[in-house]
Amino acid sequence: MADTQSRLSIDGLMTELMALAQISEAEPPVVTRVVFSEADLRARDYVKSLCVAAGLVVTEDAVGNTFARWQGSEPDLAPVGTGSHIDAIPNAGLYDGCVGVLGGLEAIRVLQKLGFKPRRSIELVIFTSEEPTRFGIGCLGSRMMANVMTPAQALTLRDKEGLGLEELRTRAGFRGPLESVVLRQGRFHQFVELHIEQGPFLEQEGLDLGLVTHIAAPASMRVVIEGEGGHAGGKLMPGRKDALAAAAELILALEAAAKSSGAVDTVATVGVCEVFPGAVNSIPSRVKLETDVRDTDGARRDRVLRMLQQTCKEVEQRRGVKIQTELVNADPPATCDATILQSMEDAAQAAGKKYKKMVSRAYHDSLFMARIAPVAMLFIPCRGGVSHRPDEYASPEWIGSGVHVLARTLAALAG
Ligand code: GLV
Ligand code: MN
Ligand code: MN
Repeated sequence: MADTQSRLSIDGLMTELMALAQISEAEPPVVTRVVFSEADLRARDYVKSLCVAAGLVVTEDAVGNTFARWQGSEPDLAPVGTGSHIDAIPNAGLYDGCVGVLGGLEAIRVLQKLGFKPRRSIELVIFTSEEPTRFGIGCLGSRMMANVMTPAQALTLRDKEGLGLEELRTRAGFRGPLESVVLRQGRFHQFVELHIEQGPFLEQEGLDLGLVTHIAAPASMRVVIEGEGGHAGGKLMPGRKDALAAAAELILALEAAAKSSGAVDTVATVGVCEVFPGAVNSIPSRVKLETDVRDTDGARRDRVLRMLQQTCKEVEQRRGVKIQTELVNADPPATCDATILQSMEDAAQAAGKKYKKMVSRAYHDSLFMARIAPVAMLFIPCRGGVSHRPDEYASPEWIGSGVHVLARTLAALAG
């Protein structure tokens, strides 16, 4: 594997990343690629064409999870998987997910150029809807693969326009029973995901790579507040049941609960606040909040959620509004596999890269792949820790290091 680095076509990979970024619902360089949108489908076609050009055999499941296989010399053995997602939240950058997909493909091409013959097949996976934008739940594809979301539950998903998963996936060309998306234990021998850190530590510490040992546990709670609308001038302040004022209290209470958890690992965000009717001269009568709470410790995270529910009860009584909460998901944290971590560490050392072991605070499809296979993740730095923003940036050197070490790791795992 001595010349892995020399076979890496970083310019070619960067060109592909830039080309993928052009396929966007927003004006490039801003990337918005919501699952099953026209941009998502075009982006899939682009990536699949690159996989076919690399000689990989491409298949898709009933929700569009895509598998691109480089056949090993013992094709009956379970493959080693790598990959990530290409959907992007509104107003995103071009590296989140895409580095793991196109970087995974480049790692395979590097091994092909070196004349490496894997014993196990190596399979690149492009997961459907890692981002929760359309259906309000993240990691839809991998969640369904691991049967953490059952087909029956998936069929209840709707987007903002009221369109269901069934209609959207068939319209996008993905057919067949949803039951067939579920993968059995052992379908993948091991799975490794390359991703940008989405935090500042690797760059701050001057490191090339992070070897992820745990993936933090995300939870999401939807809160709907029903108050009483009315004329913003005519209705005096006493007796108002302003749903947005009530929501403001909840948002601040959630922030305070996360800040006082006793650990910096607890984070809470309210990223969606829909106000009805949304007119400047009308008292808000209904507000929907979507909250996102995460921690490396599931129990500590759940305490924050309970505090939020408690505050909902208090605010309900005090303000005379009605508040409904719905737990959208509360996933357990994942622990990465020691064998894969060792392979990544060996690869990083052999490649002369500076690395550390770390926790992933973002969630990833690996969180759900961990339910059906041993997994680990490889992080590269991103400038200023910025992600989910158009100015997200990872340098070609950082990406090159990630692909280099991923290629060596895949070679070690596939034998
Ligand atoms: C993934 O995109 C996350 O929000 O962690
Ligand atoms: Mn993301
Ligand atoms: Mn991602």
